[in-house]
Amino acid sequence: DVIDIRGLGKYGIFTYDPGYQSTASCSSKITYIDGDEGILLYRGYPIEQLAEHADFIEVCHLLYYGELPSQEQKQEFDSIIRHHTMVHDQVNNFYRGFRRDAHPMASMVGVAGALSAFYPDSGDVSDPRHREISAHRLLAKVPTIAAMSYKYNTGQPFAYPKNSLSYAANFLHMMFSTPCEEYVPNPVMVRAMDRIFTLHADHEQNASTSTVRLAGSSGANPFACIASGIASLWGPAHGGANEAVLNMLEEIGDVSKIPELIERAKDKSNPFRLMGFGHRVYKNFDPRANLMRQTCHEVLNELGCQDDRLFQIALELERIALEDEYFIEKKLYPNVDFYSGIVLRAIGIPTNMFTAIFAISRTIGWITQWNEMIADPEQKIGRPRQLFLGPKKRDFVPISQRR
Ligand code: ACO
Repeated sequence: DVIDIRGLGKYGIFTYDPGYQSTASCSSKITYIDGDEGILLYRGYPIEQLAEHADFIEVCHLLYYGELPSQEQKQEFDSIIRHHTMVHDQVNNFYRGFRRDAHPMASMVGVAGALSAFYPDSGDVSDPRHREISAHRLLAKVPTIAAMSYKYNTGQPFAYPKNSLSYAANFLHMMFSTPCEEYVPNPVMVRAMDRIFTLHADHEQNASTSTVRLAGSSGANPFACIASGIASLWGPAHGGANEAVLNMLEEIGDVSKIPELIERAKDKSNPFRLMGFGHRVYKNFDPRANLMRQTCHEVLNELGCQDDRLFQIALELERIALEDEYFIEKKLYPNVDFYSGIVLRAIGIPTNMFTAIFAISRTIGWITQWNEMIADPEQKIGRPRQLFLGPKKRDFVPISQRR
């Protein structure tokens, strides 16, 4: 059939590109990826250098404002974020509407969007100052709502933020402090948490970021846009992967079962995939995976469990897969999520919080990309076209004559 495409618009061409594999949806100055060389730069700085020398607050400043902060700028920015960590007391009521066993991501999607009701000024997205305040609020409050989602899920009382603590330490405090016992931050665990936030902070036009941009392109409220990003991130092909990796490693149970699993992943007659392997853009290696493997060693060393069963399975799985023809030919390498689950588990984070932690990390990327889009004078409402394959025009048939 000849496909008749009308209304080509001012460019006069039409491309059909499922999954946007070769279509740029925007221009951006934030994050650069070279998937063949395994390069990831935030505002020009290599991820390896940022992970080694900067903390997450500096990375957030870099992403949102475009430059690393001076000492004074960092102190000011850090102080603003620390003083926005509380949520309105009425936000507590939202949680009580959820079932106790609600997945933390389910609560987060709802509560993040609901925050828009508390900040009517955030709807004025044309004002850069209002956008900046929304960015500060979101960055500061997302860890609080994530930890509240966890506390509610486990039946514990909420732990209020503690502004004397760093971003990562405060999150661990809200997760682990109870009325009976205050969480005492361990510097190695705090550093690992901070690094996880940094490594996941932005990754140009991935599914959740593109979702935030598309939602925001209509001028929608930023809290609602971030809720849409959280929803998109939830899927196992995106942010849900590290949870799936850990479940997969548990299922393997023993290194002797690895070859069997590899064969299953290669078998096209079933949909099973090796979780934590492969990436749309990285076709050589994911630089974040190398940093995460290193963090894994640091955390397990600190805990005195270098021979952790799941870590050993992961190392062996990586070794075998990287020598396998199928994985070599399809350029499938471990991605950041392959090791992040093991680090999170070692810190004591339950599996159902893994994607919520990804959402905390990615909030700065989402809000920075959203801000860049709104500030762009070329910005238009996102409106993809379609390749219509449905029926041609036909006449209505009264119900009495239908068969
Ligand atoms: N295990 C086995 N085979 C795989 C895997 C895998 N993990 N990933 C891709 N393949 C195969 C596909 O079956 C396909 O084979 P074919 O050419 O014979 O049809 C080929 O490799 C290409 O795969 P696509 O799905 O077309 O690649 P795409 O770029 O669309 O997908 C994705 C990338 C979604 C990450 C994919 O590799 C995957 O599902 N991986 C597992 C899930 C995962 O780890 N996601 C985390 C991504 S990182 C992040 O979000 C932070």
